[in-house]
Amino acid sequence: MSEDQSLFLKACRGETTDYTPVWLMRQAGRYMQEYREVRERTPFIDLCRNSDLAAEVTVTAVERIGADAAIIFSDILLILVPMGMDLTYGKGEGPILSNPIRTGADIDHLCEAPPEALSYVYDAIRKARASLNPKTPLIGFCGAPFTLASYMIEGGGSRNYAETKTLMYNDSGAWHALMNLISRSLVKYVKKQIEAGAQAIQIFDSWVGCLSPDDYREFVFPHVRLLLDGISGNVPVIHFGTGTATLLDEQKKAGGDVIGLDWRVNLGETWGRLGKVSVQGNLDPCTLLGDRDTLRKHAGEILRQANGRPGHIFNLGHGVLPMTPVDNVKFLVDFVHDWKADA
Ligand code: CP3
Repeated sequence: MSEDQSLFLKACRGETTDYTPVWLMRQAGRYMQEYREVRERTPFIDLCRNSDLAAEVTVTAVERIGADAAIIFSDILLILVPMGMDLTYGKGEGPILSNPIRTGADIDHLCEAPPEALSYVYDAIRKARASLNPKTPLIGFCGAPFTLASYMIEGGGSRNYAETKTLMYNDSGAWHALMNLISRSLVKYVKKQIEAGAQAIQIFDSWVGCLSPDDYREFVFPHVRLLLDGISGNVPVIHFGTGTATLLDEQKKAGGDVIGLDWRVNLGETWGRLGKVSVQGNLDPCTLLGDRDTLRKHAGEILRQANGRPGHIFNLGHGVLPMTPVDNVKFLVDFVHDWKADA
């Protein structure tokens, strides 16, 4: 079987598969003992910049849980550094950008990220590809323009996106300039990941769900479109966000071969409405914290909703939580693989 015939890539292309492929966002992370051991010795950002270690963590995770695809170990925020942002990961506090962008003048100090500044990511992709099972496809990724802009403007995570929306509503010229700069940087970055061996790309628009459909259309759509147009035609692209129930039609229009769904929507119904596109999702990550019957019930319900339609990639609706027992993850992967429509 060549990589192109892997279940994951076939499902991305909307082709029939013998069973449903599954991988999990954040499958390499703190819930996994092997990862915690590496992290005891290495700060997160150093781990991302060390292509040998990043490749090792990538491969260990996919092999440990038996998923159908690997995702390169990296972070969506790393590209902000060569654009001119100061990025640190505080202990337990998440990412901090200590020079947040609040005005048009701040944007003038930024630049388009030179793609070679992220060569450690391409090296990690090459190394992971070389040591992965040839049948296991490798996913590259980037943040989407809105989600990255929100980190740049807020200086970190946010609850209300007040600073982000203040710039967006009050200085739309500066907003569009920033979104355009991010999108152009991402096109070059993603193309380099594909050249290095990424066989699919996931765009993480994790926080775009805080916007109304009108605001999405006006302030986000053109930039996501530019990004997706710039990278399409090479490998399948997964377009993912959370809290996007009211935005999915717009997201589909913006592009992507696969649309990511979170647990707030019914997969069967939503897929029917979206029409001809593959879908990824959409188990609530919290179902991995409880007992096996609950997990079986929720995962089985998603598979029933998909109903064997070609083009479903099983995943969570967002990343694996750090307190998740790894055995539950393994159980879920096996459950999806063994599932039969009449079971
Ligand atoms: O999925 C994978 O296994 C690949 C690796 C990956 C990481 N981050 C590693 C990581 C991926 C795909 C990401 C994407 C990412 N990073 C997103 C989009 C996905 C999402 O969860 O919405 C976002 C918003 C970020 C930004 C980010 N990076 C945050 C908010 C944090 C801190 C909070 C947290 O989850 O720990 C990070 C750090 C980070 N990125 C960790 C990992 C494994 C934890 C770092 C540690 O080891 O302490």
